[in-house]
Amino acid sequence: MSEPSEIGVVGVGWVGLVTAACFAELGHDVTARDIVPEKVDALTRGEVGIHEPGLAELVNRNAERLNFTASMEDLLDRAKLLFVCVDTPPTYSGDADLGRVRSVVADLQRGGDHILVMKSTVPAGTGAAVRRELPGVPYVSCPEFLKEGSAVEDFLHPDRVVVGAEPEDTAAARAVADLYEPLGGEIVQTDVASAEMIKLASNAFLATKISFINEIANVCEEVGADVSEVSRGMGLDRRIGPSFLRAGIGYGGSCFPKDVSALKMLAGNTGYHFQLLNAVIEVNELQKRRVVGKLQKHLGSLLGKRIALLGLAFKPHTDDMREASSLVLAARLQGEGAEVVAYDPVAEPRAREMLASVDLVDSATAALEDADAAVLVTEWPEFSGLDWPAAAGRMSRPLLIDGRNFLDPDTMRRAGFTYEGIGRVATELPAPAFEAGEPEL
Ligand code: UDX
Repeated sequence: MSEPSEIGVVGVGWVGLVTAACFAELGHDVTARDIVPEKVDALTRGEVGIHEPGLAELVNRNAERLNFTASMEDLLDRAKLLFVCVDTPPTYSGDADLGRVRSVVADLQRGGDHILVMKSTVPAGTGAAVRRELPGVPYVSCPEFLKEGSAVEDFLHPDRVVVGAEPEDTAAARAVADLYEPLGGEIVQTDVASAEMIKLASNAFLATKISFINEIANVCEEVGADVSEVSRGMGLDRRIGPSFLRAGIGYGGSCFPKDVSALKMLAGNTGYHFQLLNAVIEVNELQKRRVVGKLQKHLGSLLGKRIALLGLAFKPHTDDMREASSLVLAARLQGEGAEVVAYDPVAEPRAREMLASVDLVDSATAALEDADAAVLVTEWPEFSGLDWPAAAGRMSRPLLIDGRNFLDPDTMRRAGFTYEGIGRVATELPAPAFEAGEPEL
């Protein structure tokens, strides 16, 4: 048998598929293996099943170089470099579930000449444990930093690529670095544990930035400042930087909540109490709920009130509903007795499984019909182009809480809305909505 020459990808979820498609785009032959045969069949037919800009085009354009299989033996025969992209979801304890990683390790224990490249997010120390289980198998930690909605772009134009390996695996690390070299990002060559920590620390830091600016926003509301102006003024300081300083109703998604909690647990398991991360998590949880207070300030009791949610995905340009702020918000509103109606341009099928008691409609206009208030939850571009004056006329009360500070307050007020963002000055007094006997916040 000849030396396997293809790139292998283990686990064809979102990270695995982007990795496979992008390496194929760079001219490599790629075999990607997933345990679910239906997924393999669909991908072989060119059906991507994930809403990620540019991904379907890449998969179809490179179909000749992309081979999908459900067989681990097939993958191991064809590929030497194996990019492990299986998911590591949080367990009830907040630790990462490494079950799927262990199963790949078991497959490799059966022998063969392979290099294991870990792209899955794993706790620091996992690489060392895997290396003990797989003596002689070179191990490289190469964490992913892709953002949903721009993953293809991020892969092809990385800020940096982290390649972590121990001295005896230098040749393997070089082989991985060579694959990324044409992309131009700085290659950070380091040891395995540091590579693992770079990933967790980066995500935890970005989450910290968001919780920080959300707390600043909450203070801005009290002192009459505008958090967008504050972010702009802060971000111009190169030591701070402008990104991840958008205040809103909290971060979600498959990475930040999981990785912040995994880092907190990792520290805790070593006996170290990572105080700051507790606050980051708590602030994020409270931020999702603050909208309820804002609605009550305007509407009094929410019992029987019809509240429209515009957007459900955890951020725009994705249909991912994992840890979306909309899930907590919808449940809180229903807990207050509100009737919740919602619209999302792409996440509706996934949302249907998770928000069974929410009335999901097929347009923003339909959601706003007869609503007592609307909450902009996800900043989908189409919401900026809505005919807002007409929408105001169709609502029972033209009240809009902009959970992402996405719309222009003056335009919305001219359209007839009582508008309130997050950490923005309310230039118009709220409509007098308190009815006698209703509790004040
Ligand atoms: C993130 C990391 O950015 C990426 O490097 C890692 O590989 C996976 O996790 P992703 O989950 O796709 O990527 O989303 P991201 O764009 O980072 O946004 C995460 C959440 O933070 C979203 O809910 C978003 O709405 C929120 N966010 C982001 C803010 O609330 N304010 C900001 O300023 C930025």
